[in-house]
Amino acid sequence: MRSIPWLLLLFLSLLGSTECGISSQWDQCGCRWEEWEAWGECDSECNGERKRSRRVWLYTNMPGCVFEFNTCATNDMGWDYSNCNAFCHNGGTSNSISCSCVTGFYGACCGLQVNCGNPGSITNGILNGGTFTYGSTVTYTCQTGYLLVDGSSSRKCELNAIWSGTKPRCAYYNSCSSGPCKNGGICTNIPDDYQCTCSNGWSGKNCDVDIQPPVMTNCSSDKYITTSKLTDLVEWQIPTFTDPHDFRIDVTANYLTNEFTFPWGDFNVSYSAVKPSNGLITDCLFGISLRPKPCDPMSVPANGALICNNWKTDYGQFCTFFCKESYTVPRGIIIDDFYVCGASGRGRLQIQFPIVQSTTGYNIGPTYSNCSDNRREMQEFYIEKLSQSDFSYFCEKFQEECIPENVSVQC
Ligand SMILES: *[C@@H]1O[C@H](CO)[C@@H](O)[C@H](O)[C@H]1NC(C)=O
Ligand SMILES: *[C@@H]1O[C@H](CO)[C@@H](O)[C@H](O)[C@H]1NC(C)=O
Ligand SMILES: *[C@@H]1O[C@H](CO)[C@@H](O)[C@H](O)[C@H]1NC(C)=O
Ligand SMILES: *[C@@H]1O[C@H](CO)[C@@H](O)[C@H](O)[C@H]1NC(C)=O
Repeated sequence: MRSIPWLLLLFLSLLGSTECGISSQWDQCGCRWEEWEAWGECDSECNGERKRSRRVWLYTNMPGCVFEFNTCATNDMGWDYSNCNAFCHNGGTSNSISCSCVTGFYGACCGLQVNCGNPGSITNGILNGGTFTYGSTVTYTCQTGYLLVDGSSSRKCELNAIWSGTKPRCAYYNSCSSGPCKNGGICTNIPDDYQCTCSNGWSGKNCDVDIQPPVMTNCSSDKYITTSKLTDLVEWQIPTFTDPHDFRIDVTANYLTNEFTFPWGDFNVSYSAVKPSNGLITDCLFGISLRPKPCDPMSVPANGALICNNWKTDYGQFCTFFCKESYTVPRGIIIDDFYVCGASGRGRLQIQFPIVQSTTGYNIGPTYSNCSDNRREMQEFYIEKLSQSDFSYFCEKFQEECIPENVSVQC
């Protein structure tokens, strides 16, 4: 019997092959396996699969032993598979099927590294660091005379392939070198600019605006003067005005000299200093109040009423009195007299008021029976009497106040 070894190539496709295993004709047809071929290429850089094939020999040429692989075995028996390249790059861990990468690496085989790219250089400064992968840090520094602003001096490449922070800028930080602050101002550098802290009396960006008003010393305070004369000489100190910046100062005053003979009353003295170079003004203003010397208060007479002006009492007091019904004054006292303190026009006059004595059936001058009931009559009588007296000017001068309501009645 002639044995003819027939080499049967295996099918490329395993599809449709439902049964597996050695065929029942194996022995009958004289089937023998060939050695496995060498393994094929791994189909992937990592976690791949490779395969190898084998052939089968058919030794017997018997009827029914068709010259086909399937005569000996199902197609799958011709193939063998195994995993290959079961590893990952960059320290990743393989489970033979896929990789789990170390942080910062990605890709099926962890062959790719997260990279943020070059974050860019800056003007007037330098970028330090040449590695732009995940976890790398770059820093920025500015040239002398520049300050890092508007961003981060240090940036880190993050997992999302974006640099942390923002790109900074080198701002000019030496503007004070040109000495922009005048008049003793102190210069402070700020980014792209400077700031002046001005000395007293100067303002403006460069301390060149004179905001110094005239400086005043020895401005008198208000003066309150009492005098026994109708007019009196009042003196005061002349204020001085100076300018620390030595500009001219013009002073005007409403009195020509530092003394004046004032009558009773209220007066204002003013000195006004203006600095023409900047128009600023400083005023010295004070008041002078001249009043007659006050008198001791008069006592209310027993059994009588004391009636006086209740207006402008600091300029003068004019008092008279009423007796109560069935009372009168001692001999020698003239009941019509005014008792005057102050502006008499003929000197000062003050008389201790007499005690009014009881009499019977003897009455002289105006009387009252009930202090509160007769109050109005006494006030009206007083105004009438004052207006016809030597002191009528006091009513004329203060016309609006010379009214019965403004007359004081004390019993
Ligand atoms: C202010 O007045 C005092 C006392 O009269 C005097 O000594 C001083 O020199 C005056 N100051 C100025 C600036 O005139
Ligand atoms: C004095 O000046 C004050 C304000 O400072 C004013 O109210 C007053 O009326 C003035 N007096 C006189 C008498 O001019
Ligand atoms: C004065 O009159 C009032 C009521 O008008 C009265 O209450 C008072 O008692 C009288 N005074 C005298 C001292 O009569
Ligand atoms: C009295 O005179 C003063 C001003 O000196 C005035 O204010 C006052 O209203 C007067 N009194 C009466 C009761 O009219």
